This record gives sequence, C-alpha cells and structure tokens, in this order.
Amino acid sequence: MKLHIKSFGCQMNKLDSSLVATALIEKGFELTDETNEADVLLMNTCSVRHHAEERVMSHLGHLKTVKKSNPDLIVGVIGCMAQRLGEELLDHPAVNLVAGPAKIPQIPDMIEKALNTKKKSIAVTEKIRRKNRQAEIEALDKFELAYDTDENHIHGQAFVRVMRGCNNFCTYCIVPYVRGPEISRRPKDIIKQVKKLAAGGIKQITLLGQTIYAYKYTEEDKTYNLADLLKMVSEVDSIKWIRFITSHPGEFDVSILQAMADLDKVTPYLHIPAQSGSDRILKAMNRKYTAKHYLGLIEKARQILPEISIASDFIVGFPGETDEDFQATVELVKKARFKNSFVFKYSPRPGTDSANNLPDDVPEEVKRQRNLDLLAIQNAISEEESSKLLGKSVKVLVEGLSKKPHVNMAENGNNPQLIGRTATDHIVVFNGPETLTGTFTTVKIEKTSALTMFGKLE
Ligand code: 5AD
Ligand code: SF4
Repeated sequence: MKLHIKSFGCQMNKLDSSLVATALIEKGFELTDETNEADVLLMNTCSVRHHAEERVMSHLGHLKTVKKSNPDLIVGVIGCMAQRLGEELLDHPAVNLVAGPAKIPQIPDMIEKALNTKKKSIAVTEKIRRKNRQAEIEALDKFELAYDTDENHIHGQAFVRVMRGCNNFCTYCIVPYVRGPEISRRPKDIIKQVKKLAAGGIKQITLLGQTIYAYKYTEEDKTYNLADLLKMVSEVDSIKWIRFITSHPGEFDVSILQAMADLDKVTPYLHIPAQSGSDRILKAMNRKYTAKHYLGLIEKARQILPEISIASDFIVGFPGETDEDFQATVELVKKARFKNSFVFKYSPRPGTDSANNLPDDVPEEVKRQRNLDLLAIQNAISEEESSKLLGKSVKVLVEGLSKKPHVNMAENGNNPQLIGRTATDHIVVFNGPETLTGTFTTVKIEKTSALTMFGKLE
C-alpha cells in the first residue's frame, strides 16, 4: 500500500504529518511522492487564511474526477480544516475520512476501516475549548512519543512540540478554535523525545508552540517555564543548536533574553510577529501591546544579544486599516530592521471575532498594494542587513542539496550546491560534498541578497 501526504500550513502541521506517516509506515505502508501512485492520499490542511482552504477544495474537486477511474483510492482530510468543517467535508464525494488535529492517533485505524469496508468515518473534537480532554491529550502525547523519529526530519534537525493550542484570541485568528486551549507537555516527555532524537543524529532542536513563552508545567512542586526547558535541552550533549518558535510580544518577558544569552546553545534568533505598527489596529486585533512596547522589546533584545536576528509577521488590510495605520506599520518595519517579514493580506475566518464583528472593508486592491509595498520595504532592509555578512566566515548546519544542486558543480570539483542555515537563521548556499548534510561546516560569504547568502566552503 502506498501513501501520499500533502501538508499545508505551519510547522505544527508538518510535524503531525510526519507522525502520521511514521505510524502508517510501521503498519506496512510505503511513502510515495507521486499522487497517482497512491492507494491512500491524506491532506493535512490549514485554516489560517481562506486561500489555504481554497487550495484544498480545488484538490478535492480534482480527486473527485480521479476517483471515477480509481474508485479504490482512499482520501483523507486531516488537520485544522477538518476540525473546522467536519461533516461538511465528509459529505464531499471525494472524501473517505476526516480527522481533526487532536484525533491524529486514530488515523491508522480509520484508514484500515476505509480500506476494508469503504465506509466513511469522521473524528473531530467536540467542544475543543473544553479543558478536560484528558484522554485525548494523553493519546496525543503517546502517539507523539512513539512516532517521532529522527527520520521524520531533515537531516540533523528536528521540531519538538512543547505545547498545543492557544489562548490568545487575536480577533482575526482561527487557531484557538481548531487547536483548542493552551496545554503544555510534560518536561520529562519533551526531554525523553529530545534524547531519542539526539541519539538518532539530530543536532538542532526547534521547540514548537503557538505562543511558546506561555509554556508552563507544574510537577512535584516545581513549575517549569520556557527558560527551564531551554536549559534542560542544553544539557543534552549532542544537541548543539536550540531554537524556539513562535513568540508573542505581549507575553514575552525580557528574562528569556537573559536565558538566551546565558545558554550558549540557544541561537540568537527570534520569530516574534508584530502584525501591525498601528496601536489602533493592534487593539482591534486584541494583541495586548503597543508599537512602542514592541520596539522596546526589540531594542532590549539587541542590547542583550547584539548579534540577534529577528523575523516578524504582518497582516495588511485588517478591517478599518487606513493609510495612516499602514504608514505606522511601515514606520515600525523601518525601525525594527527585521531579518525578514512574512506579510499576509487579511482574510476573515468564519467564527472569529473580527469576522463576526468587523466588516472586511479594505478593498482587495488596497490590500494587495500594501502587501507589495511592505514587502518591498522589508526587502530593501533585508538586503542591507544581509550585506553585513559579506566577507565573513559563518558556521552553518547543512540541510542538504539546494533546489538547484547542479549550479557551479564543474568549478567545485563536481560537488553539488548545498543549502545550510546560520545560527541566526540566514540561508547560505555553497558547493560541497553531499555527505556534509546534517553536519556543521564553515562557509565564507562571497555574495549576499535579501534572503540568500552565497559562499565557499572553507
Ligand atoms: N488573515 C491573514 N493572515 C492571518 N494570519 C493569521 N490569521 C490570519 C488571517 N485571518 C497570519 C498572522 C500569523 C500568521 C501565521 O498568519 O500574521 O502570524
Ligand atoms: Fe497551523 Fe494555524 Fe494553519 Fe492550523 S490554522 S495549520 S495551527 S497555521
């Protein structure tokens, strides 16, 4: 039996996909990159913007036709969209099974049932904001511990979930409704997992949480926070670099910057989405901080960790965003000098506060223009910041072949083009033996652009 998984959305989803894949491989499935070879096709979906859902719907439309000639194909929709739409998806003629993010441990059984009986099945969490979903959470933890292997990840690096869900309720955001309340995982489980990954050759761990600074777990009279976790992961010998994503500027406490400075293995990198530079819009987004507070945090971060690189997310065209509000965002971007920013056009999500209460009143054309303008401004800053690396020797963790492995091979002793990342999360491409994948090496930067550095192996 051949399995194909398509993943949309964030790192949490990619992690879930790899857990499901490993569980199914253990049951005898083989992974395939070719959709037309698959006996079972899973789509792990994202609901964060309408566009992400639209892409899944159009795939399903196509699969409806495919199933006419291949009626035995099993199609599953899993992840956030499955949780959001539930039965509505199950009714789609192409769909055999639907499973929400908290139900992934059930997927192998659901697939077996679909293969054996051809009956449709659904597993989504009722009342996902309920706190006492103990059995569900325990099953998830068990599934995670059992099926997270180093082979799930690109060589040398692994993502480890430290918490699930979110309690922030930013007014635009679907996440609290599809991933439930914040629940932190036991430090012992997290460390056990990190050690298992380390034994398999993993050198970099990225701790994952929607609002990672909110991590909190009390056990035997001790309450563990993010700084404690970072320290515990640091103590695992063969782990050399540690990152954590994503930080919320409202909850972020400067003490974490000190922990980053004290722990050598924690890389000087923060992903800390600002979303807007206008206090009026930040308030309407329920972000619980002002532009001044945000810039103060960035300044503090640079004082404590001078080489830190910072990345951000922005939403343009939030309801009521005027030219003046947008200018405030531009100002913030100019002052903050991010390494890079992700910019999204506001997309109303059914059931969220902003979709319920605020008209989506910024015209699409204005959203598009603001998106382009902000990206252009960020791009110029990224170029300037990157150019500071020119001529420097940087340590990178090699991820593997670049997208164009044949580039410059002849001039480099037939070595392919590789891609790696610095501790500050800068992307570096260079030619070298593929065997460097998953190891650290040093590259001298010879050319820079906004998002990619080019160099020579030292
Ligand atoms: N519309 C547009 N962008 C959104 N994001 C989250 N919700 C929405 C939405 N409704 C963006 C935020 C977040 C990133 C993951 O996606 O910038 O940080
Ligand atoms: Fe990830 Fe949010 Fe998309 Fe779900 S909706 S996949 S949590 S980005």
